Amino acid sequence: MSHSSTLPRYAVIGHPVAHSRSPRIHALFAAATGQALTYERLPAPLDGFARTVREFHDAGGLGLSVTVPFKLECLELAATASERAHSAGAANTLAWRGGAWFADNTDGAGLLNDFARHVGIDDRGRDVLVLGAGGAARGILGPLIAQGPRRLVIANRTPEKAAALAQLFAGRAGRGTVVSTMPFAALGGQRFDIVINSTSASLGGAASGDAMHLPPALFAPGALAYDLTYGPASAAFLGWAAREGAARCADGLGMLVEQAALQFELWRGVLPATDPVLAQLRAEIGAGQ
Ligand code: ATR
Repeated sequence: MSHSSTLPRYAVIGHPVAHSRSPRIHALFAAATGQALTYERLPAPLDGFARTVREFHDAGGLGLSVTVPFKLECLELAATASERAHSAGAANTLAWRGGAWFADNTDGAGLLNDFARHVGIDDRGRDVLVLGAGGAARGILGPLIAQGPRRLVIANRTPEKAAALAQLFAGRAGRGTVVSTMPFAALGGQRFDIVINSTSASLGGAASGDAMHLPPALFAPGALAYDLTYGPASAAFLGWAAREGAARCADGLGMLVEQAALQFELWRGVLPATDPVLAQLRAEIGAGQ
């Protein structure tokens, strides 16, 4: 038996996972914290999530990062889940605990940690616009609203989906926070301090505001534009935002690293430092790796 087969086993499961940076991130965390483990890519067929998870556990697997398109199924599959996974209605993490899978969702907390540690912004008291109402938006809305923005607007190409999410999350807003929805076209004349692109248009390279038919001048003075994707996928939206006067633009690489750190802590009981890993990944992506 090879040595590696006896190590605690983790993986990222998705469809596709070939380009996932998660194995690199968790390998860097493991090295930095002195934890011996393996972390691999686990591709699953679209109709085979539960089976692939079961086979992974039968082979000794202890934890999974769960990515597109399985985040809703992940929550359904787990025997128990964290409050934040329940409230998002989606999960990005599985941990084997006491003979069953426990699901968590670290995406929203990862975003807030990126805001606090790397971007240097806080959505408390701010006017926030979230573009998109899919799975990615679900993961971040609860934690964003809990911080107490002044106003959180969800805008989506299909307005009904934005309305459904607003209904789901508005009840969690504290006094002083207004949650509402607007069609893209109605955003004209509105100004926001933070504009977050959670649409999957980025992945198709079509997320510039022009391509999404967003009105001009959405950015208040000093505003932040943030894309949940990272690297080249975020370029269309962030390039458009910069041209539109966003004072600061950030991609979602910091969120990716922060949400992974929270997964690592759940699995291993150690919270790894994120700054060196984020710097390392930026260098690798910059070098075209
Ligand atoms: P994810 O899990 O990545 O959020 P999803 O649940 O399929 O994926 O949601 C995709 C989101 O991106 C939706 O808000 C979608 O808008 P619709 O609800 O109108 O489909 C949005 N989206 C995808 N392509 C888009 C485009 N070209 N322009 C605007 N919005 C787009």
